[in-house]
Amino acid sequence: MKLCMIGTGYVGLVSGVCFSDLGNDVVCVDKDINKIQNLKKGIIPIYEPGLEELVLKNYKNKRLNFSTNLKDSVRKSDIIFICVGTPTKKNSNSADLTQVYSAGNEISKCINKFKIIINKSTVPVTTGDEIEKIILKKANKKYFSVVSNPEFLREGEAIRDFIYPDRIVVGSNDNRSKKILKNLYSPLISKGAKFIATQRRAAELIKYASNAFLATKITFINEIANLCEKTGIDVEDISIGIGLDKRIGSRFLRAGPSYGGSCFPKDTKALVSTADKFKTNLSVVKSVIKSNNLRSDLLSKRVSLILKNKIKNKIVSFLGVTFKANTDDMRDSSSLKLIPFLSKKGAKIKYYDPTGSKKEFKKLKNVQFSNSIQDSIKGSDIVIIHTEWNDFKSINFKKFTKNKKLIIYDMRNIYSPDKIKKNGFKYFGIGR
Ligand code: UDX
Repeated sequence: MKLCMIGTGYVGLVSGVCFSDLGNDVVCVDKDINKIQNLKKGIIPIYEPGLEELVLKNYKNKRLNFSTNLKDSVRKSDIIFICVGTPTKKNSNSADLTQVYSAGNEISKCINKFKIIINKSTVPVTTGDEIEKIILKKANKKYFSVVSNPEFLREGEAIRDFIYPDRIVVGSNDNRSKKILKNLYSPLISKGAKFIATQRRAAELIKYASNAFLATKITFINEIANLCEKTGIDVEDISIGIGLDKRIGSRFLRAGPSYGGSCFPKDTKALVSTADKFKTNLSVVKSVIKSNNLRSDLLSKRVSLILKNKIKNKIVSFLGVTFKANTDDMRDSSSLKLIPFLSKKGAKIKYYDPTGSKKEFKKLKNVQFSNSIQDSIKGSDIVIIHTEWNDFKSINFKKFTKNKKLIIYDMRNIYSPDKIKKNGFKYFGIGR
């Protein structure tokens, strides 16, 4: 099938590349000329394990192409995926749909045969109805169908999540599109992925409800971790103990810093905003957002307590600054609150991240990027492990420091407290 992906961000690029690898002809379109020129040279705009190899392979065998010409690309395609950003509006919690509607408007001018227009961007319920109205202004109803097909790709695991999804959700109000999409996804369905066909609005809500539920699960275990810290219990035991109940499930029960990234913070807010619009009070999601916002302050306070409120001139080694491991994404990372807090209090911060230095910290006082884990740890008073990269999982602290009073604050509970303590270092984790 001939596919066109509008937007070469995370979702558009990963999905486009994977669809081409499954044997479809795919053109990925973006307004950004630089991005397109780079992609043609095999330069990938994001860090995502495995993506570069797939781009090179499929571009070489001509199943994958890149273009800035939206009209031409849409005209030549049977299925068009809208994969543009839906950031939070300024001074509001709702999603900014400007890019989605603009894509819909552009597509409406290019309907030369029957096309399926799929919204993969995360959008509030009824956005599909709006896109349909926009296209109807220029095209006959017979020649297009607007479908919702949300993505469930985790950064760092996006290729695997695409190839082995737990489920594929297709929301469409007509059976013809459902059949065509089932066929498009058949290589994944034959490998065991469940295909769920719903009404369009339901698919839109499935996406938000999934992310809100996962954010709730994380926030729940984070709050239980707070209680564990006060009662001498290890939250890891609680996660195992409750996770083995099949009704609860063991995943997304790892306590840690506040959740971040490009989806959970934005989508929980947008869901509440949609519910408010429909006069429905999503009180659980509201308190999840509040609890997560307060979490960075809570962890900042904990660092202060660990350092006995003497932060000034303390040398802090900060390992991992992105919102989680295996990504270079800084969006809503809790490090954006923790590092400025420490810098303001007079600490000297040496941070290391496998994806390099970050512009977000360039202007901060006493915050420097270290070129290696070793450089970051050397001479420090405290090591804060903020993300769970494999690189951080078996550090020989003794080898990297002469400081016998080194404190390790393991925000991802990677290490065994007993082992660290046996080496003579002070250990603090989350909820233990
Ligand atoms: C998420 C969803 O998982 C994905 O389905 C959706 O389409 C996009 O948003 P992503 O943001 O890439 O993916 O990361 P994810 O792995 O879900 O983690 C989100 C945040 O939750 C991170 O800050 C992570 O550190 C945190 N988290 C996750 C925990 O603190 N504990 C956990 O057990 C799991």
